[in-house]
Amino acid sequence: MQLVRNMIQSLENGEFPPGSKLPSIRQSIRLSGFSQGTVVEAYRILLDMGRIQSVPGGGYYAVHQDLQSPRPEQSRIVQRLSLDPALDRALSLGNRSVQAPFGLAVPSEDMLPVSALKRCLTEAFRSEEIHTYSFPPGHNELRKQIALRYRQAGVDLGWQELILTGSATEAAYVVLRELVREGDLVALESPCYSGFLHQVKKFPLRILEVPVDPMLGMDVDLLEQRLKKGARPRLIITVPNFHNPTGALLEPARRRKLLDLAQEFDFYILEDDVYGGIHHGAKRSPPLIALDRSRVFLVSSFAKSIVPSMRLGWIAAPPEFHDAALERLRALSLGNSKLTEETLTLFLARRHFDRHLRKLRKESRIRIAEFRKRILAWPVDIRVSSPQGGFWLWLELPAGFDALELQERALKRGISVSPGTLFSPSGGYRNYLRINCALPSTKSILGHLDVLGALVADMV
Ligand SMILES: Cc1ncc(COP(=O)(O)O)c(C=O)c1O
Repeated sequence: MQLVRNMIQSLENGEFPPGSKLPSIRQSIRLSGFSQGTVVEAYRILLDMGRIQSVPGGGYYAVHQDLQSPRPEQSRIVQRLSLDPALDRALSLGNRSVQAPFGLAVPSEDMLPVSALKRCLTEAFRSEEIHTYSFPPGHNELRKQIALRYRQAGVDLGWQELILTGSATEAAYVVLRELVREGDLVALESPCYSGFLHQVKKFPLRILEVPVDPMLGMDVDLLEQRLKKGARPRLIITVPNFHNPTGALLEPARRRKLLDLAQEFDFYILEDDVYGGIHHGAKRSPPLIALDRSRVFLVSSFAKSIVPSMRLGWIAAPPEFHDAALERLRALSLGNSKLTEETLTLFLARRHFDRHLRKLRKESRIRIAEFRKRILAWPVDIRVSSPQGGFWLWLELPAGFDALELQERALKRGISVSPGTLFSPSGGYRNYLRINCALPSTKSILGHLDVLGALVADMV
């Protein structure tokens, strides 16, 4: 900015010696001929640069040389602990060179209900006593609105049974903390959502992998075999509705059998239903908890069905665990943001949520179909999932294919992807990829999808 450059020159050539008073903003407008906005902005930039300082009620002064001299570096803050470089590359957060973020499982901005949310946020902001905590179990009206959606989906869940959390991740952590003890066996789906892998790594557990069929969901017969051979899990973690990463919808007979096995072999089920509402067909598949309250901890959130930035989730625990979960949550986080809870209450009560979900389902279905067709045209031998919900595809490439290497090559071309290893408890699925399809089908995105296809073909 020209004015900033002029002022720095005046400071450096002694026109404004250190400690001297600078012209007021009004004088500066007159002297320089620049507009008020430009002058105010220039002063703000110089303040930020530490070249001038303001004295309340007393105007602006050129900063003394000793204040400008280099200060000792503050101890470095580690911005993000890297758990897995492949995960960092898949997320590529803040990486502006990524033009095609196929690696993230988050709908793009054009699929988010931004303007309705903004209106609700503005209205919530004006409410009384809004800038404070919402202590667990959280805002009653929001719990009622969530319970109402479950009732519509055939789940008989009272609103008092819901405990609001900061996210589904936090909800799952509360369940793990409450339920498992050192050395316990925990069954994970294979592949499974990478967030669960990070969570269980923090506990001294043993892991049992249960394979997932990309259409039918968890292989419950295989689980039964393992149980009959003596495996005794304390907990099984599952995403029955639109499993991440395969997109599978657990088949009804498998649901029933899983719950029967939980009774017979005395284990609990942590059911994550964050994608349950994003079904492509007409009907929502009720979560497992609809069939059995005694064995299932339901965790969910609005991260996928509204927007991740709102950070709001919930738990419904078996009745005898309700109070313990509440106490765990109090110890863990004290409570949620009242502003967030009120905003979401308005968003649901005004039926923006239902309208948004209808749009999200339709768009997800259309974009998945478009991406799928395009991927199937890649000149490689490939198997692609055909999900009935969610907004991503699971790709199987020929055996021996190295999706980690593809990830590195793709990133150089502005493309992020999630290699299958991110979803494996034991380093498997190296020849698999998860592709987010909740992106605008612009020429650029579709062009990048073709580039990805060419990279894959090159590596086969
Ligand atoms: C299955 C599953 N659960 C939970 C989450 C994260 O939910 P939240 O942001 O509410 O913690 C994700 C995000 O990808 C997910 O795929």
